[in-house]
Amino acid sequence: MAKIISVHSFRGGTGKSNTTANVTTILASEGRRVGVIDTDIQSPGIHVLFGLNEEAMRYSLNDYLWGKCEIAQAAHDVTSQLGPAVKGKVFLIPSSIKAGEIARVLREGYDVGLLNDGFHQLIQSLKLDVLMIDTHPGLNEETLLSIAVSDALAIILRPDQQDYQGTGVTVEVARKLEVPRLVLVVNKVPPTFNATEVKARVQQTYNAEVGAVLMHSDEMMALASAGVFVQHYPDHPMTAELRRLAARLVE
Ligand SMILES: Nc1ncnc2c1ncn2[C@@H]1O[C@H](COP(=O)(O)OP(=O)(O)OP(=O)(O)O)[C@@H](O)[C@H]1O
Ligand SMILES: [Mg+2]
Repeated sequence: MAKIISVHSFRGGTGKSNTTANVTTILASEGRRVGVIDTDIQSPGIHVLFGLNEEAMRYSLNDYLWGKCEIAQAAHDVTSQLGPAVKGKVFLIPSSIKAGEIARVLREGYDVGLLNDGFHQLIQSLKLDVLMIDTHPGLNEETLLSIAVSDALAIILRPDQQDYQGTGVTVEVARKLEVPRLVLVVNKVPPTFNATEVKARVQQTYNAEVGAVLMHSDEMMALASAGVFVQHYPDHPMTAELRRLAARLVE
């Protein structure tokens, strides 16, 4: 059975897209067929990490939602971007980065039920082992749907009071929607913080599992979304932590 894994955060800029791309790459490097879909229609971004530029996007998620194509036609095989270590496959379903197409979705909306159908069609037609869903921050209809259909949900937060409060909201929603596995990921932890203490505190605050504590990394900042961290830094301690997270999410 294919697994659906969503990555969400209440606030923006926490590291959702980078975490999604890293977990995707790890799972694919172990031989899996992984789909990754950008449901952040308002502010898409994960295509950048996989080196997919606008001209190469034949179809996007938007086209599928408007009935212009099958969802599998919007899937782009980006495996070759990830180097020879990836034994499996990575298929990216991007959201459009054309201003007019983003505006149209915001103006007209779309049938969220189509997203759910799309997820299952992707799993079937691409024979996926895992479907990763990168989301828009905060709670909206597509996020609620993604959480509801997920086998596992990773909620990312920074050690920041604004994140702490918002994360509580998402955790509550995920519990109501009975997501089988809920994993918190603390990201951008300053090097002066003690990771073990942060983990214990966050775990206690939400009474939920902390799947990873990721330190702020200058290498990640410098990479600046021009690639996937685990591919560029296979021996970095953060890569080891991301591997543990990936294993837990897909377990
Ligand atoms: N552990 C880290 N150390 C340093 N920089 C990081 C780390 N994690 C993420 N970043 C940087 O933070 C920025 C935001 O990351 P990313 O785009 O993954 O977040 P996001 O949650 O998807 O944002 P959005 O809500 O806008 O979609 C990027 O520039 C990324 O390189
Ligand atoms: Mg993002």
